[in-house]
Amino acid sequence: MTQWTPASWRNKPIAQHPEYSDKAALEQAEKSLAKFPPLVFAEEIRALKKQLADVSEGKGFLLQGGDCAESFSDFSAQGIRDMFKVFLQMSIVLTYAARLPVTKVGRIAGQFAKPRSSNVERRDGVELPSYRGDIINSTGFTKQDRAADPNRMLQAYHQSASTLNLLRAFAKGGMADLHRVNQWNQSFLEDNPLRDKYEQLATNIQDALAFMEVIGINSANTPSLHETTIYTSHEALLLHYEEPLIREDSLTGRLYDCSAHMHWIGERTRQIDGAHLEFFRGLENPIGLKLGPTVTPSEAIQLIDALNPQNEPGRLTLITRMGADKIAEVLPTIARRITDEDRKVVWSCDPMHGNTVTAASGHKTRSFDSIHEEIKQFFGILRSEGAIPGGVHLEMTGLHVTECTGGVYELSEDDLHNRYLTQCDPRLNADQVLELAFRIADFIRHPQAV
Ligand code: PEP
Ligand code: CO
Repeated sequence: MTQWTPASWRNKPIAQHPEYSDKAALEQAEKSLAKFPPLVFAEEIRALKKQLADVSEGKGFLLQGGDCAESFSDFSAQGIRDMFKVFLQMSIVLTYAARLPVTKVGRIAGQFAKPRSSNVERRDGVELPSYRGDIINSTGFTKQDRAADPNRMLQAYHQSASTLNLLRAFAKGGMADLHRVNQWNQSFLEDNPLRDKYEQLATNIQDALAFMEVIGINSANTPSLHETTIYTSHEALLLHYEEPLIREDSLTGRLYDCSAHMHWIGERTRQIDGAHLEFFRGLENPIGLKLGPTVTPSEAIQLIDALNPQNEPGRLTLITRMGADKIAEVLPTIARRITDEDRKVVWSCDPMHGNTVTAASGHKTRSFDSIHEEIKQFFGILRSEGAIPGGVHLEMTGLHVTECTGGVYELSEDDLHNRYLTQCDPRLNADQVLELAFRIADFIRHPQAV
C-alpha cells in the first residue's frame, strides 16, 4: 500500500467530483478553509467513537437523521430548532424503551454535497452539468448556476458553523430538559389517533421523572436531565472541502477530519481503490458506509477491512438501505458472514433510500408503511443472525411537510403537492417521525413481536 498523506487521495481515481475551471480560485478557497477553526474537535470525535463502540455491543442505540440535503436558501433558526426538538422527542421514547443511552447524530451542519446518477442534465436540448448540492453549484438551469464555484465551500463552512453553534446552544442551554421534552410528547399524543396505544409510555416517562424529582434528582443538580450532546455527520463527498479541515490532535498526534464528527461514504464513492476510501483510511473519525441491495458479502468484508483494518469497534457503521421488498433476500447472508468473521460494526438501518417511488403526480415519495416494514425486518433479521440492530437513519424534518405518504393521518399521494418542500429526497414530517419512534420502541421492547 502506498504512503498515506492528507493529499494522497488526489492520486486516485475519484467519483462524483466536479470539475473546477478556475484552479487558482479552488486553491485559494482550500487555503482559507485550512486557516479556519475546526468545526468540531478531536475529543468529541473520540467520545462519539466510544459511544458507537458501545452501540456495536448492544449497549446503546444510534439515532441519526436530517435532511437529504441542506440548502443555502432554506437556512433558518426555526428549521434547526424544529429538527432538534423532534430529534429529542424521538430520543426520549427510544431511551426509555430500550433502557439504553441513545447517541444522537444529526446528518446536518455539512450535508451539502449529493452524488448524482448522471454528470449532465438535459432540458429542451440544452445540456448542463448536474446540480451536485449547494456546496458545489446551484439548482438554477443556466451555465453560470451549474458551474462549480469553490467559494460555495466557504459558505457551506460558515452555514455549518452557525448551525452547530445553535445546536450546541440548544443542547446545553435548557431546550433539552427531559421534563420539557416529554411534555412535548404528551401534547403530541393529546389529539393523536395513536394516543390510546402510546399514552402509557409517555405517562411512564413522566412518572419516572416525577419519582426522581422526589428523591432529589432534578434538572438543577443533574446535568444529564437538563442537557444533551448532539453530534454531526454528513456524506463526505467533496474532498476539496474535507482535506483542508483535517486537524492534528495535539493530545495524541492523530489526524481528524474536523468538518464533522462522523463521515459517510456513499455507494457511488466506495470504490476500493478510489479517492474516498484512500482519504478516510488515514483518519480517525467514525465512518458510515452505505450498503444497498446489490452489495455482496465478500464486497462488504473487503470494504470493512479496507476502512477498519484493526477491527476497532466504533470506527465503522454499516448503513443498510435495501428496501422493504429486498431486505429479507439480501441482509441475512451479509449479516451472517460479518458476524461469523467477527467484524465489529454498528448496524444501522436507513429505511428511506430503498423505498423511494414516484407518485402519479411526479413527486418522489416514500410510504410510511414500507419504511416501517424495512425497520421491522431489519430488527428481526439481525437478531436471528446473532447481530445487533444498533440504530436507524431517517430523512426527516421537524416541519409539517407532505413528502412521504401514510402514517396515522393517512397522507395520500393526492396530498403530496400541499407542502412538498424538499430540495432532494422526501422526508418524514414531524408527526410521521414521532409515530415511527413509538413504533421502533415497540420493536425494541418486544423483540418477540418482530
Ligand atoms: C442520501 O444518502 O441521501 C442519498 C441520496 O444517497 P444516494 O444518492 O447515495 O442514494
Ligand atoms: Co437522500
